[in-house]
Amino acid sequence: MSYLYLVLFSMVFYYVIAQSVVTETKIDIKELRCLVCLQSIHELNKAVSKIDPRQKVDVGGYRLDADGNYKHKAVPQAKSELHLSEIIENICETMDGYIRALWKSNGTLTLFPMVTETGQMNPNMMDVDVIQDDDLNKSLKYYCEGIMEEHEENIIKLYQEETPNIKVQFCVKDTSICPPNKSINEEL
Ligand SMILES: *[C@@H]1O[C@H](CO)[C@@H](O)[C@H](O)[C@H]1NC(C)=O
Ligand SMILES: *[C@@H]1O[C@H](CO)[C@@H](O)[C@H](O)[C@H]1NC(C)=O
Ligand SMILES: *[C@@H]1O[C@H](CO)[C@@H](O)[C@H](O)[C@H]1NC(C)=O
Repeated sequence: MSYLYLVLFSMVFYYVIAQSVVTETKIDIKELRCLVCLQSIHELNKAVSKIDPRQKVDVGGYRLDADGNYKHKAVPQAKSELHLSEIIENICETMDGYIRALWKSNGTLTLFPMVTETGQMNPNMMDVDVIQDDDLNKSLKYYCEGIMEEHEENIIKLYQEETPNIKVQFCVKDTSICPPNKSINEEL
């Protein structure tokens, strides 16, 4: 009886080890960083588009004008440096909703959302092999935070200037985090 358990245990153990070794070697860090970049910007786009365009924030303080009225400058919240900065600081939390996986069909690395945009369990779960690894330094959040910390100023500017296609502008052109030939799925 105990022998059977031992065999069973060993089989499970070797299965787990073999799987993590195989998948670990398949991860290309550059590719992962590029996917994290694109997905973070995707999440930023969503967060910024949710800001009520009528919301304005005062910037630059208050001054009295020549007639004794208070003058203040207001900008839309979506262009406020402070507000954008807050969004950017929190955006990497969204990475917790993704797992690293390989498409079974072609072995391509993907950041797989566990729930869909409409809040359902992702129905494509059967189409991917989930990659397991416990190293927090390889986590999606870790890469996301690195990118956001290093490039916060630039990202704020891109949103303030309403730059078209920020994903490509930022991840490919400005930072080269993604290679120029990376076909960027607009549906991401
Ligand atoms: C791999 O397969 C997935 C889904 O089957 C597809 O979305 C993706 O574009 C494919 N990638 C490549 C590089 O073929
Ligand atoms: C993660 O990185 C930090 C600092 O770069 C380091 O101190 C820590 O040991 C690393 N953790 C692992 C599990 O590699
Ligand atoms: C991809 O790279 C090659 C060689 O660098 C270049 O000739 C080609 O135009 C690029 N394609 C795209 C879509 O950028």
